[in-house]
Amino acid sequence: MKSKKSRNRPGPEAKKWVKRDHCVISKSVTRAYPLVVDSAKGCRMTDVDGFEYLDFTSGIAVTATGHCHPKVVKAICNQAKKLIHMSGTDFYYPSEVLLAEALCRLAPGRMKKKVFFTNSGAESVEAAMKLARYATKRPYYIAFTGAFHGRTMGALALTGSKTLHKKGFAPLLSSVIHAPYPNPYRPPAGLSAEQTVDFTLEWIQETAFKHLVPGEEVAAIFVEAIQGEGGYIVPPKDFLKRLAQLAKSYGILMVVDEVQSGIGRTGKMFASEHFGVVPDIMTLAKGIASGLPLGAIVAKSQVMDSWESGSHANTFGGNPIACEAALATLELLENGLIQNAEKIGNYLLDRLRNMQGSHPLMGDVRGMGLMIGIELVKDRESKEMAIEERARIIQGCFQKGLLILGCGQNTIRFMPPLVLTQKEADAGLDIFETVLSEVEQKRG
Ligand SMILES: Cc1ncc(COP(=O)(O)O)c(C=O)c1O
Repeated sequence: MKSKKSRNRPGPEAKKWVKRDHCVISKSVTRAYPLVVDSAKGCRMTDVDGFEYLDFTSGIAVTATGHCHPKVVKAICNQAKKLIHMSGTDFYYPSEVLLAEALCRLAPGRMKKKVFFTNSGAESVEAAMKLARYATKRPYYIAFTGAFHGRTMGALALTGSKTLHKKGFAPLLSSVIHAPYPNPYRPPAGLSAEQTVDFTLEWIQETAFKHLVPGEEVAAIFVEAIQGEGGYIVPPKDFLKRLAQLAKSYGILMVVDEVQSGIGRTGKMFASEHFGVVPDIMTLAKGIASGLPLGAIVAKSQVMDSWESGSHANTFGGNPIACEAALATLELLENGLIQNAEKIGNYLLDRLRNMQGSHPLMGDVRGMGLMIGIELVKDRESKEMAIEERARIIQGCFQKGLLILGCGQNTIRFMPPLVLTQKEADAGLDIFETVLSEVEQKRG
């Protein structure tokens, strides 16, 4: 990776800002490394010292069309000159309707759908929780171990990825049961990857519904099509379809959380499409407006029409500038970026799988499109998690100009902007492999 200077990241300016940040910003945020960003374009980023980076994080899977895509910037500027805010709760404006129409057209299933706009992923999850209860008049929810649905009190009750997220915040909703998510790389003892779906579905019926909560009182099952924060875990192909059948047989709504996997990231507009499922409610945020804070739920009209005027609303949801950025984003995705995510994603997966042969730390390589996880293990037989090694790789890549993040306990995630070129993919992988080799050599 070319850079103005080749060593000593973070530079003096970055160090200064980090120090000031620590004085005034809440300690609760996580900070992966001392990157202090000045500007960004496409997949490239420049920090306040002039160091350049290749961004394989997209600001946690957000900048779908790349940083500051000219068409998104134009849409934002044009709208900012016309109307910045008027609250989509109390008033009407065209951009909100246009975006809702586009989402209804694109969301899986031919039935009529409706949209409720929010400002973030957690807020979309909260809206889905409330809608599911309102529509079914049932109290309980099923979620999965390893799931991440956000950190507000309701969403946090569904989240099951790290206890740190919950530490100090109990009591949470007591009406959530967590089922085991089918993880083909780590099936329950004695089972094969193929048996994980049977295990999960049996657990819901035989354990959850017989001992914990009556199936007829469950409002919704919340599931990530591909588990994100929990480790970029791709479930077996038939999981979501069979889960949807189970849900239907009990009159339970199926909520697919596409906050991270949606909006083109996996090489289809929504990851649900890979698995042939039509969610009753789908939650969205992150990539939808290429970086502006916007979220949404898209629900079957039959479900969304169950609540009445005033039962759920917010002030900022569906902000006109964010809606215009989202319309520009969707247009770019439909005109080539989704195909690019599939093409470059497959290229990255192939190269990573080839690398696996000479890098014992790489236990599993998985993903779809540009949602790729590399699970690191100390030993391929025992699958002991390589947690410290992962931390060293993430820091080492930062030092050399590649921005990556972790997920789960020992997985590295690649979630670059969907504009990534093959040349950029190669440049990123070269850095990753160099750092991986260094870490492997050091541990002998
Ligand atoms: C699947 C999923 N749902 C919900 C959320 C929460 O989104 P936000 O951080 O915008 O509240 C996230 C965030 O990572 C997520 O990955």
